[in-house]
Amino acid sequence: GLEIILADHAGFCFGVTRAMDLTMDAGKNDDNEIYTLGPLIHNPQAVNKLEGLGIRIVDEVDEVNEGTIIIRSHGVPPNTLNEAKDKDLEVLDATCPFVKKAQKSAARLQEAGYQVIISGDKQHPEVVAILGSTNGQAIVIEEEEDFEKLPKKIKKAGIIAQTTQSIDNLKTVVNRLMDITEELKVYNTICTTTNERQTSAADLAVEVDIMIVIGGYNSANTNRLAEVCWEVGTTTYHIETADDLSRDWFHNIKRIGVTAGASTPNWIIKEVVSRMEDIKQEENVNEEVEEVNEE
Ligand code: F3S
Repeated sequence: GLEIILADHAGFCFGVTRAMDLTMDAGKNDDNEIYTLGPLIHNPQAVNKLEGLGIRIVDEVDEVNEGTIIIRSHGVPPNTLNEAKDKDLEVLDATCPFVKKAQKSAARLQEAGYQVIISGDKQHPEVVAILGSTNGQAIVIEEEEDFEKLPKKIKKAGIIAQTTQSIDNLKTVVNRLMDITEELKVYNTICTTTNERQTSAADLAVEVDIMIVIGGYNSANTNRLAEVCWEVGTTTYHIETADDLSRDWFHNIKRIGVTAGASTPNWIIKEVVSRMEDIKQEENVNEEVEEVNEE
């Protein structure tokens, strides 16, 4: 029969759980019109659920004239918060406390005269927000050519990492900065949950025949999780919901590993596991029939 094993660390992280709880709470108890600034999490099913509570998504503060605006876990630049307050909107700030900390460290470095360097993805809202905390003065290092933007010599520099950055990327940035700085401060703002999730996915992938990775197709961390499993050499399927499961994957398979991205709600993980339990039972029946036929 099939054995289904869930990774030790899978699904929502602390910051996303918190943002989701705050938002669901507001959806149920707040009489205001409620908006989230951008989709709360990169998961279409969860976004649909929020829509069901009447919570709408806007791209800009400009689009809202009254009501409550929710800041998601990635955070926003300070001027966005000010804009919302100036418009007398109710602001529910669900920025992850770890992200807030990165923003504050960046702002403090900037004020103390350090050139702030952010190791992260330029387009990512979290990085955009951290950049905003330095009044746009920080330099973001995402790829090799970004190093060319750095001055030849920097007296005082401070490095901040996007919370989901890989430690290897951060180390590369630290290394390169060492060569050109007199004084270098490094804030390791990488959030451990990402690493824990990836490590436990890789550990599990080694043990199983196939891996099922659950999460939005648009979720960067879910895609990365699938990559990690492939890198181990295990056949890996990235799905969004139980409906994406294919029976064909489970023939002649004994052990299935399951993990999920940081933006994947628990109810989706449960649905997938229970659908696989069903497939498992049918497979068991088929196996018994085959055994009978062989006899
Ligand atoms: Fe926060 Fe870490 Fe999640 S920074 S949003 S707990 S990945």
